[in-house]
Amino acid sequence: MTAPPLPIVRTVADLRAQVRAWKAEGLRVAMAPTMGALHEGHLSLVRLGKAKADKVLASVFVNPTQFGPNEDFDRYPRDEAGDAALLASAGCDLLYAPTVSEMYPQGFATRVTVSGVSEPLDGAARPGHFEGVATVVSKLLNQAQPDVAVFGEKDYQQLQVIRRLALDLDLPVEIVGAPTARAQDGLALSSRNAYLTPEQRQIAGRLNVALKDAGERLRGGATVEQVEATGRAALERYGFEKIDYFEVRHAEDLSHPGPGPFAGPARILAAAFLGKTRLIDNMAA
Ligand code: PAF
Repeated sequence: MTAPPLPIVRTVADLRAQVRAWKAEGLRVAMAPTMGALHEGHLSLVRLGKAKADKVLASVFVNPTQFGPNEDFDRYPRDEAGDAALLASAGCDLLYAPTVSEMYPQGFATRVTVSGVSEPLDGAARPGHFEGVATVVSKLLNQAQPDVAVFGEKDYQQLQVIRRLALDLDLPVEIVGAPTARAQDGLALSSRNAYLTPEQRQIAGRLNVALKDAGERLRGGATVEQVEATGRAALERYGFEKIDYFEVRHAEDLSHPGPGPFAGPARILAAAFLGKTRLIDNMAA
């Protein structure tokens, strides 16, 4: 049976009116913020939201402020009709798809900066990225005022940045991390996987292999220095062209534990390029 078409709202006023109506009925509301080009990973966020609340809304907004000047904002895949159909099939109740001018009207001048956790790794490799994410997520959560918001663990540093900002800004929302959805060979699902050539796609799954192997080494007593060096060497051997990082970090604040052995809780995070496509993934250890 095909799901009925998904209601779409485009303004903060319409979004708030719907969420207010649900809350007036005593319903709990979950939100899954996305940038569209949806795949099974996003749908798993919607399903998790549905399991934690009565109503779930998704947002689709390709946020210009989190892309660097040489990044893929212009070519980022966009397919609102396809996204809406997928969301409806996953049990989503509402799509919020604001325009850039609804989100950033004339005169917009505020930025949200989260220090510490947003500084290393992607923060260092993509200057300004987390400020863009923190700003738009603060706005989205404030606009929708959901009880629960679900974000994927694939973007683990982003998840930790959002947990920090929700805590620091006293946002009345529970932030939930959803396990990474993966292809059969372990490749984390990502809208950017669509950029990969068939040859690159063959190599891409090895990012996850290297991270799993690193997790086993760390748990087996190898030092952080050894785990990181072995991980980088493995990615080079597999054919990754540029490695932004392959690092062991404290799982919560993402500080570096130093070169010696580390009993955790750890997160091992990696970012590497195949051609122009930048892939990221991470693993608990
Ligand atoms: O993970 C994403 O898709 C985006 O970074 C988010 C959280 C929707 C903010 O634009």
